[in-house]
Amino acid sequence: MSAKGPEDYAAKPNPRNGRTRLISANWKMNLNHLEAIAAVQKLFYLLRPADYRYAEISLHPPFTDLRSLQLLIETDRMPLVLGAQNTYPESSGAFTGEVSPSMLSRLNVKYVIVGHSERRELFGESDAFIARKVRAVLDASMLPILCVGEGEEERQAGRTGEVLSDQVERALVSVKAEELGKVVVAYEPKWAIGTGNSATATDAADAASVIRATLTERFRAEVANEVRVQYGGSVNAGNARAFLELPELDGLLVGGASLDPEAFARVIQA
Ligand code: PGA
Repeated sequence: MSAKGPEDYAAKPNPRNGRTRLISANWKMNLNHLEAIAAVQKLFYLLRPADYRYAEISLHPPFTDLRSLQLLIETDRMPLVLGAQNTYPESSGAFTGEVSPSMLSRLNVKYVIVGHSERRELFGESDAFIARKVRAVLDASMLPILCVGEGEEERQAGRTGEVLSDQVERALVSVKAEELGKVVVAYEPKWAIGTGNSATATDAADAASVIRATLTERFRAEVANEVRVQYGGSVNAGNARAFLELPELDGLLVGGASLDPEAFARVIQA
């Protein structure tokens, strides 16, 4: 009998809604390729078969780590999925410092985070630019994780629903109904990112409902129901379960708590 490999640990769809959960580690600008190798080896040691069957687990390291992690994951047949944090919406050319979707897909990257609030705020990414990235990721046969979320002032003004609908609609302008199931939407309220103040489970469920209602209005209910909605923003081992239990949510996008393999394993096992 051959050793078990990724195909034996494929995540099973949630029987409540048919969607496969996705738990993603957004490392941001942390962990060089040597630290990344050590972290993934440790994570693999800590995770059990049931964890991989519960949810697909994607790792989004800095670009410089991708090739090392691809080799590690494939050589050791780890049931972990590679992701990226960003890309540029052109296939090649004079775009100094950028990385194209096709370069990522050659490394067997499956998911690409698009429109993270840090990209929107620190690098001035507009909804229109984010829409081009969503299109480019799909065209390169990868799956975008589109981040949306309101700021503190918008929340105080009661504008959360409106902000989320606008961001979702604008980012998906060029997506066709038959492709919609490939899109993952991460609800990440800006005030919750890296602050230790997560949203409540109720707020996250309401936001996920707004996102799905927007998708249903713009597309068809049956395709809108295929879209996975994650929650992100100060997720840790203590609060992960409350989000994962919600029927409205299909997973988590984890920043700070994903850098330590033990903490991230506890989030997954929550
Ligand atoms: P955090 O980051 O978990 O550190 O709040 C989440 C994110 O920015 O994706």
